[in-house]
Amino acid sequence: MRTKLIAGNWKMNLNFIEAKELFRDVQAIENNDKAIALCVPACYLSAFSNAVDPFIFAQDVSAHVKGAYTGEVSASMLASLHIMGSLVGHSERRQYHAESASVLKEKVDRLLENNLIALYCIGETIEERNEQKHEAVIQKQIIEVLGHLTSEQMKNVIIAYEPVWAIGTGVTATTSQAQEMHAFIRNEIERSFGQTCASQIKILYGGSMNASNAKELLACPDVDGGLIGGASLKVDDFKFIYES
Ligand code: 13P
Repeated sequence: MRTKLIAGNWKMNLNFIEAKELFRDVQAIENNDKAIALCVPACYLSAFSNAVDPFIFAQDVSAHVKGAYTGEVSASMLASLHIMGSLVGHSERRQYHAESASVLKEKVDRLLENNLIALYCIGETIEERNEQKHEAVIQKQIIEVLGHLTSEQMKNVIIAYEPVWAIGTGVTATTSQAQEMHAFIRNEIERSFGQTCASQIKILYGGSMNASNAKELLACPDVDGGLIGGASLKVDDFKFIYES
């Protein structure tokens, strides 16, 4: 039985006062059987370190262990703050920071070496979907970045399926598109890491999840939660999604 996880990705939003207020509001959400996580900007991580309700994640992590990499934050720094883990490979990082599969693989390794969780984001563009390449794209994104891991290491990996065409656009995957892709991803995980790993791994959906579509999406058997951008910035929307 997989516990559902509702994760907010604040991206580059909120000043510190707003962030503290929203964090408090999220903490006050009455717990149900789902877990909550927030992916916060790097400069706020220490303020929320040690939190377990919600769990705190970074939005990015360095591919390097340590050293002369100005501006970067290492996985061991996150571990020293008792942060749960980090997003890896969000499509905005792939697009605006040209993050390649080999860099993302290093980032996943740095997190796992530090016993942190890699919340690995995958998703196809609209062109790739229109050309019927979405499954091949997803398969490649899984193999290139996670393919070298053992099934034991995969216990510290969460996958977020975020179709690029649904991120911040207000266009959401239909429940059948979401379920189909999540089942495809789980099947790929089974092929590479076995049935136990496939049945245990969490696969979150991201891409314009909001108060009006969350219930249906979260009811899909292979959707184990959400990675929510815009709607995570308003506590009422986020709470509604959590309670869906
Ligand atoms: P939106 O919910 O704003 O579409 O963002 C999704 C996302 O990118 C979460 O990581």
